[in-house]
Amino acid sequence: MPQTVKGVISRSKGADVEVVDIVVPDPGPGEAVVRIETCGVCHTDLHYREGGINDDYPFLLGHEAAGRVEAVGDGVTDVAPGDFVILNWRAVCGQCRACAKGKPQYCFNTHNATQKMTLTDGTELSPALGIGAFIEKTLVAAGQCTKVPEADAAAVGLLGCGVMAGFGAAVNTGGVGRGDSIAVIGCGGVGNAAIAGARVAGATTIIAVDVSDAKLEQAKHFGATHTVNSSTTDPVEAIRSLTGGNGADVVVEAVGRPETYEQAFYARDLAGTVVLVGVPTPDKKVTLPMIDIFGRGGALKSSWYGDCLPSRDFPMLVDLYKQGRFDLDAFVTERIGLGDVEAAFDKMQTGNVLRSVVVL
Ligand SMILES: NC(=O)c1ccc[n+]([C@@H]2O[C@H](COP(=O)([O-])OP(=O)(O)OC[C@H]3O[C@@H](n4cnc5c(N)ncnc54)[C@H](O)[C@@H]3O)[C@@H](O)[C@H]2O)c1
Ligand SMILES: [Zn+2]
Ligand SMILES: [Zn+2]
Repeated sequence: MPQTVKGVISRSKGADVEVVDIVVPDPGPGEAVVRIETCGVCHTDLHYREGGINDDYPFLLGHEAAGRVEAVGDGVTDVAPGDFVILNWRAVCGQCRACAKGKPQYCFNTHNATQKMTLTDGTELSPALGIGAFIEKTLVAAGQCTKVPEADAAAVGLLGCGVMAGFGAAVNTGGVGRGDSIAVIGCGGVGNAAIAGARVAGATTIIAVDVSDAKLEQAKHFGATHTVNSSTTDPVEAIRSLTGGNGADVVVEAVGRPETYEQAFYARDLAGTVVLVGVPTPDKKVTLPMIDIFGRGGALKSSWYGDCLPSRDFPMLVDLYKQGRFDLDAFVTERIGLGDVEAAFDKMQTGNVLRSVVVL
């Protein structure tokens, strides 16, 4: 029997989000219904609400979640009812040209549920990143459920998007390792996870850049060895002077704006790597002298989901958390209810919140 539960939707561009009744079908072949325990509020949810991703309203928001499998459809063998899982938006297909080349982290045909969740009048919803988890129960492809060791859902659920994206941007995409220097521009949940990842990987110079002193204080906790407030100090000059005049080996851009991308481009060392993990809206453009792109060498990369493989990376990061080597608790600024998502979007702009986490 389809179930009717409460969830948070964005009905039209820029309008406040609403808590409404949503119909969740029984899981079909290859699908699972998951009882959501927690879901973090990610900046990408706000991008959806503002029309910055696409125009497929109404959206069922939320995508950074942990919960427990309630029911599975035919043919599902990897997870079973009762399993504690983190939801992922990279259920790899194993068959596309990326998977065939042994690079499933770039899978071009990731799985989502085939059935649709709907409003009570039958209107189909577009779940954010194919998940939709500001809701009591959600329907996903079974491959979107990654089984992990039992742990606080509010903390480890953040691995489902922003924290994994940031950690992986530094470690997987940027390849930061022992003795490297890294600068991270934008120290929200994503940027601070990049900083934490760089520390775990052994980077020795970790420069945090933000326009908020509160965020920079938090960055020190995650492992920043230096901080730069770019509203008062030129970040390119500062990063160069903190790296012997050279620039950082890797610069992670975790804002998604042209000016911060340009800072990242010029703040890296010759042959260094820029990693764009911030999501730009479609109107944003950068203009760079082509001679500088050529002459500075190195690599300009973008990082979707930190180039992660959920089945490889989520359990490993939960282990690091449980061993006290990766402080996921410190990303959880507040625990809120389903009705508080709009207020959480406001707080995202004020500079003091890393993650508001909806607890169901
Ligand atoms: N690539 C991916 O897979 C992926 C995954 C999750 C989120 N994201 C994106 O990453 C970005 C960051 O997400 P978040 O959840 O951490 O957002 P957030 O709002 O929590 O953090 C953004 C941070 O950037 C800072 N900032 C804003 N303008 C700045 C500027 N001009 N210079 C320096 N710092 C500035 C803010 O003070 C804030 O600390 C967003 O664009 C989000 O959509 C990407
Ligand atoms: Zn694939
Ligand atoms: Zn996200």
